[in-house]
Amino acid sequence: MSTPLAEQHPLNDSLEDLVGLFDVRRSSAPMSEADRGLALAAPKFGTVFTDHMARATWTADTGWYDRRIEAYGPLQLDPATAVLHYAQEIFEGLKAYKHDDGSVWTFRPEANAARFSRSAARLALPQLSVDDFVASLAALVREDRAWVPSGDEASLYLRPFMFASEKFLGVRASLEAEYLVIASPVGAYFANGVSPVSIWVEREYSRAAAGGTGAAKCGGNYAASLLPQVEAQKLGCDQVCFLDGTGTFLEELGGMNVFVVKADGSLETPELSGSILEGVTRSSIIRLAQDRGRTVTERQIPIDELLAEIADGTVVEMFACGTAAVMTPIGRLAGSSFDETIADGGPGELTMSLRAELTGIQTGAVEDRHGWMRRLA
Ligand code: COI
Repeated sequence: MSTPLAEQHPLNDSLEDLVGLFDVRRSSAPMSEADRGLALAAPKFGTVFTDHMARATWTADTGWYDRRIEAYGPLQLDPATAVLHYAQEIFEGLKAYKHDDGSVWTFRPEANAARFSRSAARLALPQLSVDDFVASLAALVREDRAWVPSGDEASLYLRPFMFASEKFLGVRASLEAEYLVIASPVGAYFANGVSPVSIWVEREYSRAAAGGTGAAKCGGNYAASLLPQVEAQKLGCDQVCFLDGTGTFLEELGGMNVFVVKADGSLETPELSGSILEGVTRSSIIRLAQDRGRTVTERQIPIDELLAEIADGTVVEMFACGTAAVMTPIGRLAGSSFDETIADGGPGELTMSLRAELTGIQTGAVEDRHGWMRRLA
């Protein structure tokens, strides 16, 4: 018999000590229980925030200091703050889930911490240790645990971010930085839940190029995806899929990685080319599919080959994946010279079954056989 979920990976002593390094300066005006209940009822993604935020400050001379939990609220920034001019900023996204026994868990935070560290290196921002990263999540969630929602698709979305805070207009790496974590109770990412989305395959604009910042989770990559997204919506599509700089190979959706399922049961996903984000959900799906004996190939996928294989029935499902939406079926691919429906356009069977397994692990309903879950509170 497997170990009861609540007994796996309890907070260890060292994390307890690290959480203790965050000085708690409690909000003097937390939301009332009644208002919080209303806010938690049907939160629209990323619109409602909890009472507190985690924060730490860095200078090149002192390193990280003043780790704290403080009241959520506006930041006061000098108009010359470097991030406002040169976009020296990175972020992460994770979720905290309330399990049936009331404990609160998160999914593979060390993987997000490692990616945060790679993003920091690429954006010439300071390194934050994995310990500080995970402890900041635990410290915030403990303070705001009443904000962790329960129910289908519900979680507390955690948004760690770091930005260049030095007041300086010269173009060089900032000598000061701020790290914060804010938290937002969320339901399904897309307004229409987990139904198939239509994708515009973008040939005019690329998201990232070889040697650029595509593999880093930095705000600038997302800014570059907004105009194509607006244009795709005008053309009747929900999301955009970007190709590589040569317009030949599939890359990612800007906020999500992409997978193809073949009629023989195998899966394919664009290889990590250096311009694609290394998704935590992406790597977890590869593992879960392999556990089921499926072949998963990471390779360059030519868009022309994909379109031909959708048309002749070799491709039977496609889906996008990321922390926010978990896994979203793709029903249709459109572009300037094609419009292809994938199979019958409905959610694919494997897509939905892998999704159920992954969300089951996260919510505590399915055994966590890979030891991915970490208890925060
Ligand atoms: C994610 O799902 O991990 C994302 O990056 C989407 C987020 C930017 C809203």
